[in-house]
Amino acid sequence: MKTIAMFAGAALLSLGLAGNAAAADGAALYASKGCAACHGADGKTPIMPVYPKLAGQNAQYALNQMKDIKSGARNNGQTAAMKGIVMSVSEEELQAIAEWLAAQ
Ligand code: HEC
Repeated sequence: MKTIAMFAGAALLSLGLAGNAAAADGAALYASKGCAACHGADGKTPIMPVYPKLAGQNAQYALNQMKDIKSGARNNGQTAAMKGIVMSVSEEELQAIAEWLAAQ
């Protein structure tokens, strides 16, 4: 836990120079929650061609998709891969990530 907090803090610090606090927070969460493992560090280089590119997506759209995946409203063959991760991310955190992604 301490390691994660330190990592997030370092990411916040380095990104804080470039953007506002909310955007930096989303970037740190995106990295620390493991999103990059599937969607790519920049949100546009997914590990599988069929995984969606996230960078530049409308924040409200992305947030709604993540909420639907979490609740089960969106559920197709690939949703299961993503669902396990979003279960451990709060709505406030998803919102911060969505805003950061939209700005990429
Ligand atoms: C294990 C791989 C994996 C991880 C980890 C993962 N995702 Fe996903 N994500 C997917 C897949 C696969 C889909 C497509 C699901 C579907 O088709 O319903 C998806 C869909 C999405 C979508 C919807 C995109 C669209 O175009 O509709 C968003 C937004 C998203 N992920 C964000 C995230 C965020 C933020 C995290 C970290 C909290 C994350 N993902 C972690 C695999 C992953």
